[in-house]
Amino acid sequence: KSVTEVNHPLVQHKMTLLRRKETSVLEFRQLLREIGWFLGAEATKDLKLIDEPIETPVTSMVGKKLDGKKVCLISILRAGDGLIQPMLDLIPSARIGVIGLARDEETLMPTKYCFKVPKDLENRVTIVVDPMLATAGSAIFALDEIKKAGAKDIRFISLVSSPEGVKALHDRHPDVPLITAAIDDHLNEAGYIVPGLGDAGDRIFG
Ligand code: PRP
Repeated sequence: KSVTEVNHPLVQHKMTLLRRKETSVLEFRQLLREIGWFLGAEATKDLKLIDEPIETPVTSMVGKKLDGKKVCLISILRAGDGLIQPMLDLIPSARIGVIGLARDEETLMPTKYCFKVPKDLENRVTIVVDPMLATAGSAIFALDEIKKAGAKDIRFISLVSSPEGVKALHDRHPDVPLITAAIDDHLNEAGYIVPGLGDAGDRIFG
C-alpha cells in the first residue's frame, strides 16, 4: 500500500501530547521515540522470513528468522535523527546512513550539505526517516539521491505529513510506500503543516 496512516489509539494519544506547544524538548523526544516504534513496526511488517529449525527445552520446532537482507536506516538531518533511536530499538543491527538537507526558508528548496550511506544499498531494505513531510521537497530530493546510490527497496517514515506532500511524494516516487502517523489538513504559505507541530528540528534539538 502506498500510503499508510498509522491510527492506532496509542499513536493518536501520543501525537496529541507531542503536538501541544507546551510539550518540552525532553517530552517531545520521548514521545517521538514511542510513536516511532509503531511507525517502525508498520514499515517492517513485510520483511521476509525463512524457516529456522530450533530446539526448545521441550521439543524441536521450526521457527522463523529474517532472511538475512540487512536493513539500512537513512536519516534526513537534522530532524530525522529523532526517529533513528526507535528504529534501532526494533532493529539493533541496522546500518545507518545520513543525508543533510537544509530547506531555504524563502524558496523552500532543499540544499544538500552531507551525504554518507553504506555501500551495497541495492541489497538492503532501506528505510528513510524524517518527522515532517511538508512540501515533500526534502523527501523527493533525498530519495533521488538515495536511489542514485543504488537503493531499490525503499520505505519512507514521517511523523506528520501534509496532503500536498503526500501527493507530491507519490507522484515522484510511486514505488516508495509512505508510513505516517498523521496526514494533516493543509500546508500554509510559509510551508508549515497545519495544524502540525511546528518545526520538528527545533523541537528535538532545542
Ligand atoms: C524540515 C523537516 C524536513 C523538511 C520538510 O527540515 O525535518 O526535512 O523541513 O519540509 P519539505 O517537505 O517542505 O521539504 P528543516 O529544513 O527545517 O531542517 P532541520 O531538520 O535541520 O531543522
